[in-house]
Amino acid sequence: MRDGLQSAGQMVETDDKVRFLNALSELGFAKIEVTSFVSPKAVPLLADAEAVLAQITRHPNVDYVALIPNVRGLERALATDLDEVNVVMSVSEAHNLANMRMTCDESFAQFAEVVKCAKDLRVNGTLATAFGCPFVGAIAPSQVRDRVQRFLDIGIQSITIADTVGVATPHEVYSLCSIIRERYPSLPITLHLHNTRGLGITNAYAGIAAGIDRFDASLGGIGGCPYAPGATGNVCTEDLLHSLVQDGFECAVDLDGLIQVANELQTLLGQHFPGLVKDSGPRTRLHPLPASVAERMQRSD
Ligand code: COA
Ligand code: ZN
Repeated sequence: MRDGLQSAGQMVETDDKVRFLNALSELGFAKIEVTSFVSPKAVPLLADAEAVLAQITRHPNVDYVALIPNVRGLERALATDLDEVNVVMSVSEAHNLANMRMTCDESFAQFAEVVKCAKDLRVNGTLATAFGCPFVGAIAPSQVRDRVQRFLDIGIQSITIADTVGVATPHEVYSLCSIIRERYPSLPITLHLHNTRGLGITNAYAGIAAGIDRFDASLGGIGGCPYAPGATGNVCTEDLLHSLVQDGFECAVDLDGLIQVANELQTLLGQHFPGLVKDSGPRTRLHPLPASVAERMQRSD
């Protein structure tokens, strides 16, 4: 919901956000990123973060998360009922300045303070533009590895590697995830992929091959960073789930329920979302046989 709605192009009423979050909470997800506590001037569409968190019905099996950019964000998060905060900075200095208006060192200083003051809140650290930046291009895996180490040095407990502008290729995903996985075998790592160039699900499989088993995704495949030129939707939750389940992976999420919620959100926004399975139906969906074909089949029985 956070990455999806921050760039939905139109305001979604607080009551509607709450309704969709409550519906998603019933579907079996381990974690939902509800919203962000960023400057309302930077992301006006999520300015109602407190109101949303005050109104949702918490499911005991779901961890509720909000993105924060700084200590001010943590203060706002601590006044609500959350399980985790997600601090975000870019590996690319240029994109961090464009998105967070801070140098990477300034972000690290904020996050060190966040970890110190987070009380019972877990702190996840996201590294945006980990595969490439819209301003400076390719990012070296060694840069990402150094940033992960700095996250761990300040006490961050889990990390997310994000392909913010959807430029990663499967080999790059495999390679970077393997480097981080091998260096930190017990570190919880999430992969956050965007389908900007059609490689979202393929890249998720490359992550799986490297030992990653946590993925961010967004309903209908919407979303994108408003401060990354050319950014488009996240890998689509129901498409990724469909692919994994049909491919034999165990996932606890209710696919039919998810497709229904994706269709309802699409209707509410009056947009056509990029996700595919909500349109095609799961591959198990059968269509009525044309009468003439049924007749011929009966005759040949
Ligand atoms: N929540 C709400 N307001 C905040 C805030 C927060 N976490 N952090 C700062 N502000 C407010 C300040 O109080 C100040 O308000 P004022 O103008 O009314 O006095 C204003 O924002 C500017 O504060 P400043 O510290 O100078 O911030 P900035 O203008 O340099 O912006 C960020 C820094 C990080 C707050 C801003 O760039 C931001 O929110 N970026 C997030 C972008 C984002 O969400 N991108 C997509 C997700 S990856
Ligand atoms: Zn994203």
